[in-house]
Amino acid sequence: MQNGVRTPRMYDLITKKKRGGELTKEELRYFVKGCVTDDIPKEQQAALLMAIWFQGMTDAETAELTVAMTESGETMDLSSLPGVKVDKHSTGGVGDKTTLIVAPLTAAAGLTVAKMSGRGLGHTGGTIDKLESIPGFSTSLTMDEFFDGVRQNGLALMGQTGELAPADKKLYALRDVIAAVDSIPLIASSIMSKKLAAGTDVILLDVKVGSGAFMKTTEDAEKLARAMVNIGEHAGKRTEALITDMNQPLGLAVGNSLEVAEAVEVLHGNGPEDVREESLMLSAELLYLSGRGDRGECRSIAEETLNSGKALEKLCAMVTTQGGDDYVIRNPSMFLQAPIVQEVLAPADGYIVGMDAESIGETSVMLGAGRETLDDAIDPAAGILLKKKYGAPMKKGEPIAVLFTSREAAIDGAEKRFLEAISVGKEPPAPRKLIYARVEKDKVVRY
Ligand code: URA
Repeated sequence: MQNGVRTPRMYDLITKKKRGGELTKEELRYFVKGCVTDDIPKEQQAALLMAIWFQGMTDAETAELTVAMTESGETMDLSSLPGVKVDKHSTGGVGDKTTLIVAPLTAAAGLTVAKMSGRGLGHTGGTIDKLESIPGFSTSLTMDEFFDGVRQNGLALMGQTGELAPADKKLYALRDVIAAVDSIPLIASSIMSKKLAAGTDVILLDVKVGSGAFMKTTEDAEKLARAMVNIGEHAGKRTEALITDMNQPLGLAVGNSLEVAEAVEVLHGNGPEDVREESLMLSAELLYLSGRGDRGECRSIAEETLNSGKALEKLCAMVTTQGGDDYVIRNPSMFLQAPIVQEVLAPADGYIVGMDAESIGETSVMLGAGRETLDDAIDPAAGILLKKKYGAPMKKGEPIAVLFTSREAAIDGAEKRFLEAISVGKEPPAPRKLIYARVEKDKVVRY
């Protein structure tokens, strides 16, 4: 009892949520604080998370949980940096290297990108692992180095510090082992607590939908996008989301240095069309949200910045400032090659009518490109280069992908897993969209 207010009891909170009740701000703060200090036993933390998984949360509860998690640690004050500070965040995918293009492109177009990114886990990749495949590049910066990098180049990228939203770190780890990750309010509050703590003015969310994403349907992806946009706008941040396809990997490369090389190809004006288009859409939207003109004007700025080579120069500048070797960025063939390179051959004549992105991501983990637990080491050269994608015709025996690894023992299993991920049909499949919708504060625009 404090000032006549009874301290909430975890048992009562769990019972209330289990029966579909709405938790109050005080109750949610008590829960988050108790998780950070470990005063609440793990079994009670887990029980409440599972009750939330089953019963969901109201918008007010989700917003309060987010604020409590944001305030559980340090928050970044970027106000001393010039310009509009922007962030783009993907909910996680396979082959998603757009940050490596969007961040330098928007910085080259005059926005300020002070970005904290995560590592990959399970079948999804992470920007920090990709950047660390660049020899010498440091993602562990002090705050002074981070701010100096932003002042010098308008762009710095570093790994997320444990001091930002520590409640999320603990709760995410617990959700992971109790199979409670795939809950819309829990994902929304987890992502947005870190985005709000990172302190930017503008937040653009890339919500992935499909076989390789947390959200398997566009309806669920829209719900998640709306929940996150609401949280961001309530916190006074200009927030929007694009819903983008993850029914197959984005681009042709899956794996860390392979993806950096592909991003560089796009920055050179080449590269796969889907990566180029999605990167331009995201960049133009960030420019629009930062007040640089109408959407048409922002698209032109994005295209001009990419085509002029200024975005590539910006990436090289950031790489050099953060201790990396920009020679490999200018000449991606200089990246260390994996010792084992094996083609996967088409099992039959026909068309690719399905590519299970999650299984392809898992194949890349088997090859050494990803991690099962956060402590696993990554092989930067491991991964997959696709030769065919959804809708492509193929002849039995022709190469459809190339696997790269240093794990001899993994290659047969990985090839089998890859082939299981591919569905072959006699007729070409219906084309799929790359971008499904844009979710704004008060409307959804479907493409
Ligand atoms: N990414 C996050 O940061 N949190 C989630 O809950 C899911 C994906």
